[in-house]
Amino acid sequence: MEYATNGHLNGHTNGNGIATPQPKYAPLSSVWEGSDIELLEAMLNFYPSIKPSPILDATYNTGRMWKGSKRRVVSMDIDPKYKTDIVGDNRIMEGVASRRFGVVVYDPPHVGPQGRDKSVKRFDEDFGAHVECGKEHNWTLSYLYPPFLEQAKRILKPNGLLLAKITDMVNSHRSKWAHCDFMRMAEEAGFTVCDLIVKIRNGPMISNKWQHAHHARKRHCFWIICRNGTSCERERYH
Ligand SMILES: C[S@@+](CC[C@H](N)C(=O)[O-])C[C@H]1O[C@@H](n2cnc3c(N)ncnc32)[C@H](O)[C@@H]1O
Repeated sequence: MEYATNGHLNGHTNGNGIATPQPKYAPLSSVWEGSDIELLEAMLNFYPSIKPSPILDATYNTGRMWKGSKRRVVSMDIDPKYKTDIVGDNRIMEGVASRRFGVVVYDPPHVGPQGRDKSVKRFDEDFGAHVECGKEHNWTLSYLYPPFLEQAKRILKPNGLLLAKITDMVNSHRSKWAHCDFMRMAEEAGFTVCDLIVKIRNGPMISNKWQHAHHARKRHCFWIICRNGTSCERERYH
């Protein structure tokens, strides 16, 4: 049975003819044109089968994604300059207790280092693009996922949610399908991959150094919804 995320109820009558409120079918769109925080809020209202707290953001950076949110978020980043609640590697999660979180949010770097001029340094800062992504890694960052997924599973409560923002990329003249890797690896780690939402971005990233286009400019990323359990059907928590 589907429940409304907006709290609206349909009118029905029981066997005695007495009106009983019934949950309304209120789907969440698989294509999202709003902001990350609007989508996070929608997902946190739609998917949980346990109370969605505490929340760990395992790749916090400066927390742009949470701007304007009233939710309390435990922040983690590997880079100490962001002064997060937990400074550490999300592939190790040192000191983080098992079964501690109701939700883990993950927005890993999706491109490797971009070069050395000032604007791209700024880009590297904002998007955490310092991570090795060369030939030894088959030009993708997907190798980051399995150790993180193992830890995310450990620190999530049973039926807790993993919400991951994953962007595909072109590297070394080839499309790299990070979202496919992530979904396969999440299943291999024991999650149930429940949904995939396409989030549209207004302005695609463009560099004035690029001269020829061989691939479509990406105007989207994916939010992947995984549950630390075996089912996507959820009983509503209260
Ligand atoms: C794309 S940014 C996240 C942006 C963030 N969601 C926001 O709204 O501002 C990726 C972040 O992941 C961090 N990071 C990269 N590898 C990490 C790791 N192994 N453990 C924890 N944080 C990591 C980077 O330092 C960077 O700040």
